[in-house]
Parts: sequence; C-alpha cells; structure tokens
Amino acid sequence: MERLLITNIGILATPLGTGPRKGPDQGKIKLLKDAWVLMEDGVIVHVGTGPAPAADSVIDAQGSLVTPGLVDAHTHLIFGGWRQNELGLKLRGKTYLEIQNGGGGIQSTTNATRQATEEELTRKAAQALDEMMSFGVTTCEAKSGYGLATEHELKALQVIENLSRRHPMDIVPTFMGAHLVPAEYKQDREAYIRLVCEEMIPKVKEQGIARYCDVFCEADTFTVEESRRILEAGRQYGLIPKIHADEIEAIGGSQLAEEVGAISAEHLIVCPPEGIASLARGGVIACLLPATSFYLGAGFAPARDMVSAGVPVAMATDFNPGSCPCLNLQFVINLGCLKYKLTPEEVLTAVTLNAAAAIGLADKVGSVEPGKQGDLVIWKAPDLDYICYRMGSSLVKTVVKKGVVVD
Ligand code: NIG
Ligand code: FE
Repeated sequence: MERLLITNIGILATPLGTGPRKGPDQGKIKLLKDAWVLMEDGVIVHVGTGPAPAADSVIDAQGSLVTPGLVDAHTHLIFGGWRQNELGLKLRGKTYLEIQNGGGGIQSTTNATRQATEEELTRKAAQALDEMMSFGVTTCEAKSGYGLATEHELKALQVIENLSRRHPMDIVPTFMGAHLVPAEYKQDREAYIRLVCEEMIPKVKEQGIARYCDVFCEADTFTVEESRRILEAGRQYGLIPKIHADEIEAIGGSQLAEEVGAISAEHLIVCPPEGIASLARGGVIACLLPATSFYLGAGFAPARDMVSAGVPVAMATDFNPGSCPCLNLQFVINLGCLKYKLTPEEVLTAVTLNAAAAIGLADKVGSVEPGKQGDLVIWKAPDLDYICYRMGSSLVKTVVKKGVVVD
C-alpha cells in the first residue's frame, strides 16, 4: 500500500459531497486551516489538522492553499488545425455566425480533422491535456464533433479512448455529431439528422466509448425539434443528453434540456428567465463558459440569477479552435468572479464539485474528502481569494493525480 501525505497546508478549501451544490449551498465550502491530507493507493483516506500520520512519501505544502483538482467539464478537445486566420475577420467586424456561414468556423476545422490521422489527433490532444493539467485540471470532458461523418466521429472518440490510456487525465467522452450540418448535407439537412440518429448513434453505442450525447441547439445549426430527435435517439442508445443552449439566440434550448432530462445545459449566455426556471425544475446543471463570452465579445450568462433560482452552476473552458482557444481554467475562475459576480467560494464549487457532477463523476472527484480520488492542487497562493484575484500567471505549484505528483 502506497501512502502519500500532503502536510503543512495553510488552507484546505473544498466543497463537500457527492452531488451538485445549488442555491446558498453552492457557496458553502469547507475551509480547514493547518491541515493535512492522507492518500492510500490514490484515494483520500483522512483529512485532518494537528499532528500528521506517517506515510511513504510526504509533500510539504509550505503553508499554501490546497484545493481539489479542477474539473473542466466542457471541451472540444479533438480537432485538426487551428483557426488563427479568423482573428483578422473578427477584427474587421465579422460575427461568429457570418464566419461560419462563409465556410470558416466549424466546417473548416471539420475539413482539417477529417484529414488528420488518429495518431496525429492523439498526439495533438495529448499536448493540450498537458497544458490543461499545468493549469490545475485533473479531470475533463472531451467532445467529438469535428468529424461530422460516421468514420470521423468514431475516430475522434477513439482518440479520446487512446488518450485515456496514455495520459494521467481522467477524460469523459461525449459524442457531438450534431455540431453542425456539414457542407455535403447543406441541401438535405434531414438526411444528416437521419444519419446522426440512425447510423452514427448506433455505431457510437457499438464502439462503447461515449457516455454523453451533445447537440448545438442554435439558430443556423440545429433547431429545437432536430435537437430533441437527436437527444432522444441518443437516450435510446444509453447516451445521456447534454445540450449547447442559448449561446447566441434563445430558441428554447434550456427548456428542451428540462424536457429531455439533460444532465447539463452549456453556454446559456442569453438564457431567459423561463429557461432558468426550466433548468431549476429539471435539476439541470448550468455549465457556463465565460471565456467564450470574453472571446466572442458577447454578454455573460446570468449566473447570479441561476444561483438564486437554485440551478447548480458549473464553469468550464469550452476549449475549441474557434470561439475559445483557451485551456486555462484559472482565467475562467477570474471571469467567474469579475463577470458573473460569483463569490470565490461559489466559483470553487463551479470548477470542482459541480463540474464533476456535470460529467457524472461527483462520487469520485471534485472534493477533498475520504473516499474521493486523490486529485489535488497545491497553489502558489495563501488563500482562495488570491487565485480568484491574480490574473495572467499560472498559480499552480504542484498537481497531484490519483495520489501521484504530476511532473
Ligand atoms: O462551444 N458552440 C459550439 N461549438 C463551439 C465552437 C466551435 C467552433 O467554433 O469550432 C462552442 O462555442
Ligand atoms: Fe462548446
């Protein structure tokens, strides 16, 4: 048995529990001074203060802040190429949808992703995972959605499976064949929707990798009706619904999230009051992506109203080559305070326990307490306020994944 002790923790800050925290509970976290954490074989077995027990290896946190490893619950990790050429178009005033409708956007990344081999995509995404982990992320979600053809969607999911074997990051795979109607189906979108429902989803099930099915429910991508069909088809094959909703226009995506029993609804930048009420009734986790708002120059989701309405709020990067080329969840933490006006305590819950709940892992990760996986971050920071307040530098000192220090 391998025992790792982290001792001399100045402040241990963590939410507690095995499910999402909402309303006033989102901001109720445990703050333990002069603490230690003992892990055995990668699992947390004791958290305490005062004299620390013996262990095989000891890390001295030197009075720093320790939190759970961060969870990035929404990434489009698997894609070929980048889209830096779109920056100039943006600067000249083109909108996200104008760029997309002009042949850029998701379609151009789809072309690059189709050309890339499984091995090339695996190597590229592994680098992104390294960077993500350097920012303190120990668990993430990863979506397909730049293949948009059965072969290439399955290839992207296989890449996620390859990464799970090769990389210390825990990765939760999501199938997102309904990210865009690809160019070759533009004249017959119904045929693409049938392809997703009748061919892709059964094959994704047979492949046995994806756990969730996500849809970009938005004007110019998939209507509410189409999204409903796709999410229900996924559900029949055991894929739990997630939904990109109310990112640009509120066409009813958050209400659909309630109707189909989605685990989470994502973006929600323009979520209307009736959408917030739907999320609350349905117990849907709001997975908010403030770095995308920042990058698109868009508004920010009504996070405070969501907390007040009893919607559990998670936050993630939305890492992708178009609307958010950012892997830094610490920046998302800054924006959570500055733009959503969430408190540091609410923000911590949003990027740990609630994010874990949004990808079905709240029983394993997202908090520092006995029984949870030994995933922690030791920060170059004396307290939680400090990591919410400092900007632009990574404040991670040490990442511990399953009881092992990550180099
Ligand atoms: O979450 N909204 C849909 N998909 C991504 C953007 C993808 C892209 O532009 O490549 C998002 O913002
Ligand atoms: Fe997204």
